[in-house]
Amino acid sequence: VSVNNYFYCLNRIKKFLTYSNDLRRHILKKYVYTINHKRIAINYLYFSMITGLSGAALATMIRLELAHPGSPFFKGDSLRYLQVVTAHGLIMVFFVVVPIFFGGFANFLIPYHVGSKDVAYPRLNSIGFWIQPCGYILLAKIGFLRPQFWRYYDKTSFSYPLLDKLKSSQFDEYRGEYLFFLDFIKKELNDQHSIFWKIRKVIEISQYRSFSFIPLKLLIWKDIISYPESFWYAADRVVQSRRKKVFVSKCSARTLTTAGW
Ligand code: HEM
Repeated sequence: VSVNNYFYCLNRIKKFLTYSNDLRRHILKKYVYTINHKRIAINYLYFSMITGLSGAALATMIRLELAHPGSPFFKGDSLRYLQVVTAHGLIMVFFVVVPIFFGGFANFLIPYHVGSKDVAYPRLNSIGFWIQPCGYILLAKIGFLRPQFWRYYDKTSFSYPLLDKLKSSQFDEYRGEYLFFLDFIKKELNDQHSIFWKIRKVIEISQYRSFSFIPLKLLIWKDIISYPESFWYAADRVVQSRRKKVFVSKCSARTLTTAGW
C-alpha cells in the first residue's frame, strides 16, 4: 500500500465519492424530504433556535440604544432603531414563539394525542416548514439592513471592465483601445447578425481564416475616436470620467412593504 499506487488511490477516491454521495442522500432524505411529523417538529425547534439567536442580536441592539441613547451604534438614526424593534418583535413572535408551540410541540405531540401515525397531509406539513426560511429571509432584511449613504462612483470604473469582457469574447484581431461612444454602435457590435459582423465573416471565411492578421485594415469610426489625440477621444474621456453621486439605499420597496412602513 502506497500513495504512489495508482489503483490504490483510485479506489480510495472512489470510496470517498461513494461515501459522500451516500451521506448527501441520507441528509436530504432525513432532514429535507422528510414527511415524518417528529422530524419536522425537531426541524422547527432547531430553526427557531437559530432565528431566536438573530432576534436576540436585535434585542441587544435595542438595549445598546436604550442604555446609551444616540450612541455611534445607531448614529442617532431613529428610523433604523424602529426598524430593528419591528424586526425584533416580528422575529420573536412569528419565528420563535409560534414555531416552537405550533410547529414544534403541536407537531410532535398531537398525532400521539389522537393516536395517529402522522398528521393528515404530511407533505403539506413538510412544505409548511420549508417555506419558513423563505419568510425569514424576507423579514430579516428589515432588521439587518445595510446603512444608507451617498456614494460617488466613477462611470469608467464599471463600464470598462464590462467592455473588456465584450472585447475578449468578440474581437480576435482588433485588440486595441475600444471606446463605444454610441449605443447604436454598441448594439451593432453585440449583434452577431449585424452588417458589421457579416462583412467580417465573409472576409474571414473566404480567404484569411488561416492567417492571424487582417490585411485590409479599413478606417472605421472606432479607429477615429479611439485615436488619443482626437477631440472625440478627449470628449469621451471627460464624459466617462464624470463622477456621479448616487444615494445607495439597501432598503428595497419590497422590504418596506414587508415591514409595513
Ligand atoms: C415574545 C417573544 C419575545 C422575546 C423572547 C423577546 C426577547 C427580548 C429580550 C431578551 C430583550 C432584551 C431585554 C434587555 O436586554 O433588556 C428584548 C428587548 C426588547 N424587546 Fe423583545 N422579545 C419578544 C417580543 C417582543 C415584541 C413583540 C416586541 C415589540 C415589538 C419587543 C420589543 C422589545 C423592546 C422594545 C425591547 C427593549 C426593551 C428593553 O430592553 O428595555 N419584543 N426582547
